[in-house]
Amino acid sequence: MILLTGGAGYIGSHIAVELLDAGYDVIIADNFSNASADVIKSIETITGTTPAICQIDLTDKSEVERMFQEIKIDAVIHLAGYKAVGESVREPLKYYRNNLDSTLSLLEAMEKHGVTQFVYSSSATVYGDPGIVEYTESLQFGAASSPYGSTKEMCERIITDVAAASELSAVFLRYFNPVGAHKSGLIGDDPDGIPNNLMPFITQATTGKLPELTVFGDDYPTRDGSCIRDYLHVVDLAKGHVSALKYCMDHKGVEAINLGSGRGTSVLELIEAFERVNGVKVPYKIGPRRAGDLAEYYASPAKAEKLMGWKAELTIDGMCRDAWNFAMKAH
Ligand code: UFG
Repeated sequence: MILLTGGAGYIGSHIAVELLDAGYDVIIADNFSNASADVIKSIETITGTTPAICQIDLTDKSEVERMFQEIKIDAVIHLAGYKAVGESVREPLKYYRNNLDSTLSLLEAMEKHGVTQFVYSSSATVYGDPGIVEYTESLQFGAASSPYGSTKEMCERIITDVAAASELSAVFLRYFNPVGAHKSGLIGDDPDGIPNNLMPFITQATTGKLPELTVFGDDYPTRDGSCIRDYLHVVDLAKGHVSALKYCMDHKGVEAINLGSGRGTSVLELIEAFERVNGVKVPYKIGPRRAGDLAEYYASPAKAEKLMGWKAELTIDGMCRDAWNFAMKAH
């Protein structure tokens, strides 16, 4: 049984689908604070399988212990956590308390119950600003750009220390920019309130839910002046977790692995692709830069392919089509 924390969220629900399709038994642990119970029905519709559900506060050590007593867990994929960069700057304690406590509770229960396989949802944000555009895993941690980013780095450090003192085998998956949705249009990125990330802003500006998109700066030293990121289809990202789980089962120790495509796409190029593929106009204006944004970075995806045989397959056009298909079905 694979314990998938945060499995009702945007990325987690896509991982649940890939795990179930690959034949794994899955239990989703989620507190549904930023996810809807309808997502579980959608996972069932897509896969024809019903995952087990545990509604739980993972920061509560005794609740986590009880879950491990009741269910025989073989491996953990840990995504549950707060993830809004801006909010983490305003409410740092909320982020440190939640993101660290949940990871500690899980590690303690895993140790007690002899569970030795752990896939951790990390982020490219741990590189800080290394002064180059292609990020390889051999780069050191950079100065954290937000409390959210600090929690990712701290959890990687904690897991590394635990693995050094035990039989734990762990993979840190450092995500670049996941976008898109399952091709069914049944699951996707549907944030409550004002979105934090670019793609839901594009879809909501296009449906009219938001008046328009603001492009944060067109005076960066990039090919068209807008920021460049490594966008990755969420289904590719989800498959990366299945590969990481298999890797963990056969290897000891810890590995940090980038999940990105290795390609950079600018904000204006993404908007252009979205308009072309979907035959729509994205209402947007150019605004000032957003504090903390780097001009350009993308993943070196070589290690993921070498160690896990994983590489991103889906294109920017596919990401735009699937994101729009989901937005049209959801609203
Ligand atoms: N952008 C806009 N307008 C918007 C929103 C975003 O122009 O309304 C631009 C940003 O300036 C950036 C790009 O779109 O250039 C992508 O922005 P996102 O907010 O979608 O993503 P980020 O690259 O800022 O953040 C991502 C993850 C974080 C992670 C961070 C650093 O969402 O979890 O990368 O690795 F911390």
